[in-house]
Amino acid sequence: MAILETIVVAFWAMLPAYVPNNAAVLAGGGRPIDGGRTWGDRRVLGDGKTWRGTAMGIVAGVALAAVLTVIEPTVSDALGFDVPRFEPLAALGLAGGAMLGDILASFLKRRSGRQRGAMFPGLDQLDFVVVSLPLTALLATDWFLAWFTLEVVLVVVVLTPILHVTTNVIAYKLGLKNEPW
Ligand code: CTP
Ligand code: MG
Repeated sequence: MAILETIVVAFWAMLPAYVPNNAAVLAGGGRPIDGGRTWGDRRVLGDGKTWRGTAMGIVAGVALAAVLTVIEPTVSDALGFDVPRFEPLAALGLAGGAMLGDILASFLKRRSGRQRGAMFPGLDQLDFVVVSLPLTALLATDWFLAWFTLEVVLVVVVLTPILHVTTNVIAYKLGLKNEPW
């Protein structure tokens, strides 16, 4: 694959994992997943992880995967190379894995004494990749192996933190997010 093609495929394949976090920021609120429970003197997850945000994040990611699958032939045709169509289980693995990774990151943040909204460099930028890729590999193995070649995975690991920082700074400046990370 040419480098530009690899970047486009990586970005397209990861879109259903990228969107849930942003959708959760927009739709979040209401009852926290941990129900306010603490472990020791700290919250298990904190008020930043809610049922509504998580559900809407997964719905947004899966819905986007469906839209991308519908427009795939047109886009592939225009580009001159193929971008992926999403099997239902691949879409679920990417979107669900992204939300699960974000929740696990909050768990680790609370255990390490970080308050809600505290920065955790590295984890903040890659938490959803670390869970969404293995979960997708598990749920849709053939699809995953066909699209997530070593080059694509490398591009994802480099591209994701850049996109994450950029979108969060924009969301912060727009007043949608409390912190720019
Ligand atoms: N959000 C949500 N449910 C999720 C993820 C996010 O409702 N599963 C919403 C919350 O309103 C949250 C906001 O999106 O405050 C920003 O998400 P994030 O930065 O992940 O949460 P933080 O508030 O920073 O909390 P944490 O320190 O636990 O990451
Ligand atoms: Mg945060």
